[in-house]
Amino acid sequence: AAAVGGAGLWWTSGGGGEALGGGRELVQPEVLSSRDGALDLALEAAPARVRIGARTAHVQAFNGSLPGPTLRVRPGDTLRVAMTNGLEAPTNLHVHGLHVSPEDNGDNPFVSIAPGDSFDYDFSLPDDHPPGTYWYHPHRHGHVADQLAAGLYGAIVVEDPDPVPVARERVLVVSDLTLDDSGNLAEVSPPQRMMGREGETVLVNGQVRPRAGAAPGERELWRVVNACPARYLRLTLDGQTLRLLGRDVGRLPEPVELTEVTLAPGNRVELLVDTREGASTLTAAPVDRGSMDGMMGGAMPGDGPGTDEPIELLTLEVTGDRAADAGPVPPGPVLRDLREEPVAARRTLDFAMGMGMGGMMGGMRGPGQMMSFTIDGRPFDAERTDQRVRVGTVEEWTLTNSSPMDHPMHLHVWPMQVVTEAGREVAAPRWLDVVNVPAFGEVTVRVAFDDFAGRTVYHCHILDHEDLGMMGTLEAR
Ligand code: C2O
Ligand code: CU
Repeated sequence: AAAVGGAGLWWTSGGGGEALGGGRELVQPEVLSSRDGALDLALEAAPARVRIGARTAHVQAFNGSLPGPTLRVRPGDTLRVAMTNGLEAPTNLHVHGLHVSPEDNGDNPFVSIAPGDSFDYDFSLPDDHPPGTYWYHPHRHGHVADQLAAGLYGAIVVEDPDPVPVARERVLVVSDLTLDDSGNLAEVSPPQRMMGREGETVLVNGQVRPRAGAAPGERELWRVVNACPARYLRLTLDGQTLRLLGRDVGRLPEPVELTEVTLAPGNRVELLVDTREGASTLTAAPVDRGSMDGMMGGAMPGDGPGTDEPIELLTLEVTGDRAADAGPVPPGPVLRDLREEPVAARRTLDFAMGMGMGGMMGGMRGPGQMMSFTIDGRPFDAERTDQRVRVGTVEEWTLTNSSPMDHPMHLHVWPMQVVTEAGREVAAPRWLDVVNVPAFGEVTVRVAFDDFAGRTVYHCHILDHEDLGMMGTLEAR
């Protein structure tokens, strides 16, 4: 097929598989599943050439595909990854959301794999690991946003011991990138880094607006991963009823019906779709996540968080004979509700942006001026330990934001339960590993540091902010 020119149109071109929805058939990333309690695999992070819409893109990918393979494991399994760095910059691997040891060859954010080197990761999932949709991506400080924006990410599924019966499951890894006319990754400007870059092209499993088909009455489970470095996704699926089965970690006590759901960068949702006849579009509506206006003495050119237009991600076409009734959803395993538990310690963490190292807000002092991104007034220092917690205790953390932009806070290893939001108690239990802290707002979470001694990090999951210093260290003993 001939390439179609014109902004916003080129993705409708292409070879076979083109259908009413405009896109090609949605593909699933390769699936690697554990057997007899273990999954062993090799992952190489390296430059790759992939097809995106009608063009050849020069990206970075795990094992040559964007996204990388989907890893399916069970609670109690061992996941061993022989990771090789085929990039020109240092890298490493983070298994985002997995409840595994942060020490040694586990989910250790302080490991750095030099170009050409390898590292053997060994992640042991506890027997009671919460099922859910997790993901992996590089985590080498200073390179995280660049490496994600280049294409390095993949999904991890921890199987549910009592799975919901569905006609099919789909993993939907949403990411974004910006390519120039030759298919190379575009340069990122300092204001884009400060704002948090949003790619011009939004992808689902590496595809631009693919289409998927189903029969009416079929139940599907969609595992959506927001792998964008900075983009928030406010998802709607017109004409279909969505039920939220789980957020980042585990299942909800009961599925919740909703018309839209917002994912901050790093968040995942598990959605049940009991399909209804017709064509529907999964759309990401714009999200106001604040701006830097005023921080630099006025509006900044080019600092807006991308487009104000809704973005079509995926078309679902439901046709044919009606499937048999999918039946009720059996209850699944849920996490402990920490709201009634005694709290051993309370602490406050403040996310802030300021000018330069002084942290003073003022006018723009020149085009090269970078802002500081801090937690409790300090930029990241791997040598310093910012928080010390006792293993076996529950803590309550108040996350405050004294800046005019939202910051999605991610804590490694231990899930967070949101207890208050905008001063109000959160009624239904909500377990997350990325909690959005709104501009000039605050959120209170509880964390059960129930196992694993070691050192790890928490940070803003607008990954440009993390690379610019909005990260702290935590030691559990
Ligand atoms: Cu998904 Cu510390 O990151
Ligand atoms: Cu941030």
